Amino acid sequence: MTELNSKIPKGQLAEKWTNYKAHTNLVNPANKRRLDVIVVGTGLAGASAAASLAELGFKVKNFCYQDSPRRAHSIAAQGGINAAKNYQNDGDSVYRLFYDTIKGGDYRAREANVYRLAEVSNAIIDQCVAQGVPFAREYGGLLDNRSFGGAQVSRTFYARGQTGQQLLLGAYSALSRQVKKGNVELYTRHEMLDVVLVEGRARGIIVRDMVTGAIERYAAHAVVLATGGYGNVFFLSTNAMGSNATAIWKAFKRGAFFGNPSFTQIHPTCIPVHGDFQSKLTLMSESLRNDGRIWVPKNKEDAEKIRQGKLQPTQIKEEDRDYYLERRYPAFGNLVPRDVASRAAKERCDAGYGVGDTGLAVYLDFSDAINRLGKNVIEARYGNLFQMYEKIVDENPYETPMMIYPAVHYTMGGLWVDYELMTTIPGLYAIGEANFSDHGANRLGASA
Ligand code: FUM
Repeated sequence: MTELNSKIPKGQLAEKWTNYKAHTNLVNPANKRRLDVIVVGTGLAGASAAASLAELGFKVKNFCYQDSPRRAHSIAAQGGINAAKNYQNDGDSVYRLFYDTIKGGDYRAREANVYRLAEVSNAIIDQCVAQGVPFAREYGGLLDNRSFGGAQVSRTFYARGQTGQQLLLGAYSALSRQVKKGNVELYTRHEMLDVVLVEGRARGIIVRDMVTGAIERYAAHAVVLATGGYGNVFFLSTNAMGSNATAIWKAFKRGAFFGNPSFTQIHPTCIPVHGDFQSKLTLMSESLRNDGRIWVPKNKEDAEKIRQGKLQPTQIKEEDRDYYLERRYPAFGNLVPRDVASRAAKERCDAGYGVGDTGLAVYLDFSDAINRLGKNVIEARYGNLFQMYEKIVDENPYETPMMIYPAVHYTMGGLWVDYELMTTIPGLYAIGEANFSDHGANRLGASA
């Protein structure tokens, strides 16, 4: 029987991480040079871990199946990254970010890990800025913030609608620096096939060179899996088809425990399914809910006419629109947490009020915001997302409301890990979406 020991440090929630850092065993610089670490995955979790471990002095081998570390699913995190800086002086704090994340995760995440995540969120922003991530700035030059679902404060740092991509470029730069210094050996187009255990400890991996087909083995003192989630177990999701979850599945088969496997984030604002032949769905960032208002027709007859192409959304009068999130959840309005917004959209569509050809869509309307702020402001905030929408749907969202529908976006479950992010296999670690910890169902924390 494996005994689960989450190794949560003793003491008050707010003191655990500080105490842990002060008392954990250290490795001296000369010993670090003798320790090899394998990191599998080069997304935000993998690239930043590989670069940080190398910077600390460990010898790192970093693997990914893509042709370049810049292709990870992390780029699908469009709208921003949260931190409790309280730049807006709107009442934010580390505790509030912790609380929103725990609540957004339906109280399933481990409190000690989430508190640590909220605590280090501010340092993560500073690190990203130092790496050159081009976060949006206000007129005076200070970093700008906006909101995300599940929050009543503005704590989201963003780079238009491509924050994940810009963060990934930052992590990739740090990784490249360590590759150049000879501290990281980078293996692209290599897919992990298995974890090697020696006397019960993870001591290496088996990979396939996807160019030559050769099967190779690599040894290390510790193995870190940063290989993302398993959203593609669903027929359609926002994941790239390459996100196949093989690595964590192999670890599971070798005995690593899995936590919360059915805990899946359904993101409320994705482009609806539009045909039988698509392999994936596309996210429309939830940051759009800062300025977009979600509605369906109040009358089923209008919804039916829209579905049949006999009525346009712009022809529906204001009093005949049901802004159902604002009506049901006045405190949060359109910025309710992702799970709440997703359930509400499905409920309205199932009740016969859905729009689009299939009836499985609701409107996300920017006309109020454009009238209030001007098209230029909306373009500056979300221009690339509007462009993407128009390319896929062939409608201009500045003139016609966007259609959106919930889609699988992020798996909150994953390999079980303790406070040190080690799985139940000694020496095998899991970080980022690959583990079951540290997430709110809203992904509200420091992750983008
Ligand atoms: O912009 C977004 O809605 C981000 C989504 C995510 O968590 O990846």
